[in-house]
Parts: sequence; structure tokens; C-alpha cells
Amino acid sequence: MTDLDTLRSTYLARVADASDANALEDVRLAALGKKGEISLKMRELGQMSPEQRQTTGAALNRLRDEIDAALRGKKVALEDAALDARLRGEWLDVTLPGRPRPAGTIHPVSQVTEEVTAIFADMGFAVAEGPQVESDWFNFDALNIPPEHPARQEHDTFFMARAEGDLRPPHVLRTHTSPVQIRAMQDQGAPIRVIAPGRVYRMDMDQTHTPMFHQVEGLAIGQDISMANLKWTLEEFCRAFFEVDEVELRFRASHFPFTEPSAEVDIRCSWEGGTLKIGQGDSWLEILGSGMVHPKVLAAAGVDPAKWQGFAFGMGIDRIAMLKYGIPDLRAFFESDLRWLRHYGFAAGDVPSVAGGLSR
Ligand code: DAH
Repeated sequence: MTDLDTLRSTYLARVADASDANALEDVRLAALGKKGEISLKMRELGQMSPEQRQTTGAALNRLRDEIDAALRGKKVALEDAALDARLRGEWLDVTLPGRPRPAGTIHPVSQVTEEVTAIFADMGFAVAEGPQVESDWFNFDALNIPPEHPARQEHDTFFMARAEGDLRPPHVLRTHTSPVQIRAMQDQGAPIRVIAPGRVYRMDMDQTHTPMFHQVEGLAIGQDISMANLKWTLEEFCRAFFEVDEVELRFRASHFPFTEPSAEVDIRCSWEGGTLKIGQGDSWLEILGSGMVHPKVLAAAGVDPAKWQGFAFGMGIDRIAMLKYGIPDLRAFFESDLRWLRHYGFAAGDVPSVAGGLSR
């Protein structure tokens, strides 16, 4: 066996034995690297006679090419093997059943409350809260509804039982969220910008009334807040809430004891083909009551009406939920019928935001 035959069998065996890319690179350097055995042999050609150089040179070239081809072949084989191993490791059983979504859904009232809160938060309104069992002073007197005022009768109030011998006026289940205006101003003073979503109660029950329902109150007090700010705020809200580019609001003169002037606000809509479209058409839909906060209300809450003024509004959450999501019957909101909840409910975990989308 010649020298070259020994080199060939040694290196081909080492190539075959290399178990990974690093080992293979070591073999390449030992044979074909600058100081590799074959390279050194090539350098010896210079000292040979011309005839010897010709035969040995050709043999060395063949050997170099052969080992080079073996190295390349092995490299591809190692890469294939690595890919195979990876594919086997990352194998996925696509026939496995999917993981079920959480079974519960978010009630439309909760969803809409979150949506309203997100929109007003974007405009700088914080959330204020008050108790559902309220004193009649907060629910009525402080809001400029004195004891014999006819508005008291219109509110179909639920009265709490009084302890025997207690001659104070009974507490009530709050008939609107407006008392939270008083509480928020008492707590925070002015300037102030809050909304107050929550439950309210009235003794009433038919297709459009339930004894408990939801309102959201809005209040903005500053030194130069006007009806124009109210109009802009409500238009901005409606555009965002109903997710339409244009809305048109109509302010109708009205009367509330706690605002002066007062306005009921309608939104332009159409009922064509039995479906409601907000923002276009020839119909108007009443959506809320509003006005400039009455000086007596500011004074009752400890805010100086000579220095401060602002607007307030009150809106039915259930009502705007019905309008936005095409829900026909208010009573179904509170019947806890699972089929209804699954149909009208929202996916848990979808948090409404103005930037990220209110409803999806
Ligand atoms: N509290 C009124 C109601 O329940 C709604 C309302 C009207 C609230 C005008 C306001 C307002 O703040 O300014 O019918």
C-alpha cells in the first residue's frame, strides 16, 4: 500500500465516523487545511523530479478531490439527519381536540359599561361611584327636587323600611345616577370631570321598563364650560360608541330640576328594512337627558356657583346597548336565560378600548 492509499483510507474512515459538523470540520482541517496532511504533501512536490511530480501531483489532486467530495457528502447527510431529528421533536398531533373557550360570556350591560367608560376615559373623565341605597337628600333635595316637587312622584320610587319610631325620611333605592354628581363634587370639589355608571331602580315593569336598570351619569365642571362643550362631548361619544363616522344630534328644550337650561338629546337614525342605522335617515331617537348644572345643585354640593359652572347628562345603558347590538326586549337582559346570554354575550378577555376597538 502506498502512502497515498493509507491517507485515503484513514481520512475516508474519519469522514465516515464524524458525528457532527464540528467533528467533520476537524477532519477537513487535518486533511485539507493549510497545515493539513494532504496540503503538506502537495508542498513536497517542489523537491521532486519532473516525472515524479507529474504522477504524484495527479494522484494527490485526485485524492484531494475524493476527500473533498466525501466531506461535502457527509455534511449534507449530517444536516439532513439534524433536520429529521428536529421534525421528529416538533411533531404535533393535529387530530387532538382544540382547547375549549371559557364557557362564560360577558353580559351586554357589562360590555357596554366598559365601552362607555373607555370612551369617556379617553376624554379625561374618571369613574365615580355612589351607593344604591341612597338618602332622599342625595337622590332628590340636593338635586333641586324638594319634598313636594312633582318629579318625586314621577320617579316611582322604592322606599326602604324605617326602624320603628324613626321619623327621618326613609332611604330610597336610588332612582337615577344623578346623586353621584353631588357625592363626587362633595368629595373632589371643582374642577371635576366624572362619569358614574351603575344600577338604578324604579317601580315599573313592561316591555321597555324593568324595576332595576342601568344609567351612566356625566358631569364636567370648570370655569368656562358651556353647552357647546356638552354638544361636542356627546357627539364625540356617539361617534365612538356607535362606531360610525358621522352622527347628528338634535337638542330639544326640556326640563329637569337639576339643570338649567335642560335638553333632551336625539340622534339621527333610520329604520329602513327593519334595522336601525345610526347617523343617517329621517328618524330621531331620544338617547339622553342633559343640561347645564343648576346653581342650586352646585351650592348643595359645596361648589361655589359664582365661580364654577358645567354640564351634566344621564343616559340609559341598557337602552344604548339595545340600540347598538340590536337587542329587542329589555326584560331579557335580566332573565339569565343561558341561550340568550350565549347569543348576545361577548367573549371574555376582549377588553374594549378606543384605540384597540370597542366591539369585535
Ligand atoms: N336623572 C335623569 C333621569 O334619570 C337623567 C338626567 C337628565 C341626568 C339630565 C342628568 C341631566 O344629569 O342633566 O331621568
